[in-house]
Parts: sequence; C-alpha cells; structure tokens
Amino acid sequence: MNDRGRMPYTNAVIHEIQRLANILPFGVPRKVTCDTHFRGYLLPKDTDVCIALGILLQDPKYFKDRKSFHPEHFLDEEGHFKKNDSFLPFGTGKRVCLGKSLALMELFLMLTTILQRFTLKSPKEPQEIDLTPKANGSGIVPPSYELYALLREEGLHDSA
Ligand code: HEM
Repeated sequence: MNDRGRMPYTNAVIHEIQRLANILPFGVPRKVTCDTHFRGYLLPKDTDVCIALGILLQDPKYFKDRKSFHPEHFLDEEGHFKKNDSFLPFGTGKRVCLGKSLALMELFLMLTTILQRFTLKSPKEPQEIDLTPKANGSGIVPPSYELYALLREEGLHDSA
C-alpha cells in the first residue's frame, strides 16, 4: 500500500474504472427523518431520497471525455494524481460508505497483483468487446466476457 502514492497513473486508472463502472448510480436509498427544506423544496418527513452519484461521475464540467475511459481525468499536466470533486462513488457526508478505505485498498492490491503476475489476453480483439454496463435493479454490473490470464514465468519469482 505504501507504493500507491508513488503510482499516480495506476491510481488514476483505478479511479477511472470506478467512475465508468458507476456500480451504484443512485447510491443507497435514504429517507429524511424530519421535514426538510432543500434548495426551495420541502421534503416531507419519511420521503425517500437518493443521491444521483451516476450523474456526478459523468458531469461534463468535471470530466471532459466523460463517456470514454480516460485516466487523464485524474492526472495533472505533469502526471501527478489530481483529485476530482465530482468523483463520489462512495457517497459523501455522514452516511459515506463505511467500507471505502477497505474497498480502495482491495482495488489497488488486486489490480496491481494481477498485472504484476499475469499477462492478460482477450480471445477476440479488445475493441470488439462490448463494455456497455448492464443494469440489474438497484445497481450496474459489468457485462461478462472471456479473458486469458497467463502466469508470467520470469520477474517477481526470480527477484523475490
Ligand atoms: C467499490 C466498492 C464499493 C462502493 C462503490 C460502495 C459504495 C457505497 C455507497 C454509494 C454507499 C451509500 C453512501 C451514501 O448514502 O452517501 C455505501 C454505503 C455503505 N457501504 Fe459501501 N461501497 C463499496 C464497498 C463496500 C465495502 C467493501 C463495505 C464493507 C466492508 C461497504 C460497506 C458499506 C456500509 C456499511 C454502508 C452503509 C453506511 C451507512 O449507512 O452509514 N461498502 N457504499
């Protein structure tokens, strides 16, 4: 995990995967516990509310190439990691995802471990893979496709 701060491109790739994957476009449904005034509207007690996280993750003001996979959304001109205020896949505020740190750690460790140990190949041309996400009720899941993970012979094992 100590390496993450020195791996801005990898960090940006993971952020961009989360941005495009957009697995909870409406976050987790909530309810207001009392009459609530919000931007000129009255939300009566017990109204169901959702944060439209998916809209934030595709806001053209913050993500100039919002429909494409573009890790540069999270990099500055010098290649340093750059935070983006519209990146809130874990929600925000009091009810922000409790597993956020764990999830971020898992995403980093799993992706880097796979890429260090395996060469990934596709049985068909990568550009022919349909990456259009599929809705499954409350969330969005990636479509399934086939992938070869070929264990690398050299590298890590020799130097370990
Ligand atoms: C990439 C993975 C994950 C994403 C994108 C995600 C996203 C979210 C979102 C959007 C919310 C609602 C936040 C809000 O209402 O503002 C949430 C809540 C929550 N998440 Fe996650 N989550 C992830 C992984 C995890 C993991 C690994 C755990 C537990 C180990 C976890 C535990 C929770 C809990 C307990 C809540 C409810 C918090 C509360 O109501 O106070 N999440 N998550």
